[in-house]
Amino acid sequence: MRHFTSVKDIGDLHAALQEALAVKADRFAYQHLGRNKTLIMIFFNSSLRTRLSTQKAAMNLGMNVIVLDINQGAWKLETERGVVMDGDKTEHLLEAIPVIGCYCDVIGVRSFARFENKADDYEEKIISQFIQYSGRPVFSMEAATRHPLQSFADLITIEEYKKKARPKIVLTWAPHPKALPQAVANSFAEWINAIGYELVITHPEGYELDPRFVGNARVEYDQRKAFEGADFIYAKNWSAYTDPNYGKVINTDRSWTVDAEKMALTDNAYFMHCLPVRRNMIVTDEVIESPQSIVIPEAANREISAQVVLKKILESL
Ligand code: CP
Repeated sequence: MRHFTSVKDIGDLHAALQEALAVKADRFAYQHLGRNKTLIMIFFNSSLRTRLSTQKAAMNLGMNVIVLDINQGAWKLETERGVVMDGDKTEHLLEAIPVIGCYCDVIGVRSFARFENKADDYEEKIISQFIQYSGRPVFSMEAATRHPLQSFADLITIEEYKKKARPKIVLTWAPHPKALPQAVANSFAEWINAIGYELVITHPEGYELDPRFVGNARVEYDQRKAFEGADFIYAKNWSAYTDPNYGKVINTDRSWTVDAEKMALTDNAYFMHCLPVRRNMIVTDEVIESPQSIVIPEAANREISAQVVLKKILESL
């Protein structure tokens, strides 16, 4: 695998899940792969889990790791070509990217949707430029439209907890005070569709996702109806995708918060969320602290998904 930006890059999904189990059983068995290899992790946005789990995964593989927070200590970067750089941006991404590539073997990039221009976001302008100009393998640590390391960890977790061959999984929108990208929801739908499990997406009207990600999932506007008989509830907020409201919060209706009464409609479903989560907006204290909440094992599997992806990239060098 050269680059990793979506489920299509991982190859056979069942084989990748088997590989995840093998890595989890003996995570230090592949240290020879990363010896004298350097990973640079570039963050345009904040992170707790992605930063720690990916660094840990790289260290498990014997790699050296450098972390660069673009907004803390690096030169402010211009990302648009043709701009007269007479403002506060000191360096252009088109020089910065190949320079970064000089100092490492693999690059991880986190760059969220900016909500300035939907076409730019959905063309993945930033990570695409890293792929084009760095000369190195590049993997997404959450880009504008997808968060594949998260979705891979989510799927590993579902495999570990599922009680039936084809579980019913509900992706539910839940309220949040700020505008969040659609990346986690898009990516989750993409990976669940790829594995072929039953997927129901529930959200208020106006929060429809890009149909390319919804795929074969059923969209149900009645959240309670969607929850009936579910095996997994995956909660997430996202801002509006459809025009003219792209990137906007159009609803903060707390009747969509996941609570114990709604969880009781499910088939004793597990509760999942990628974290960070706003308690009592997205989910009540009672649900996230319940035995059915698997948000911590889900976060722990971020180390495993990152390690499988890095392992595959290192094997291709
Ligand atoms: N789930 C996730 O990506 O967490 P961070 O934003 O903390 O990395």
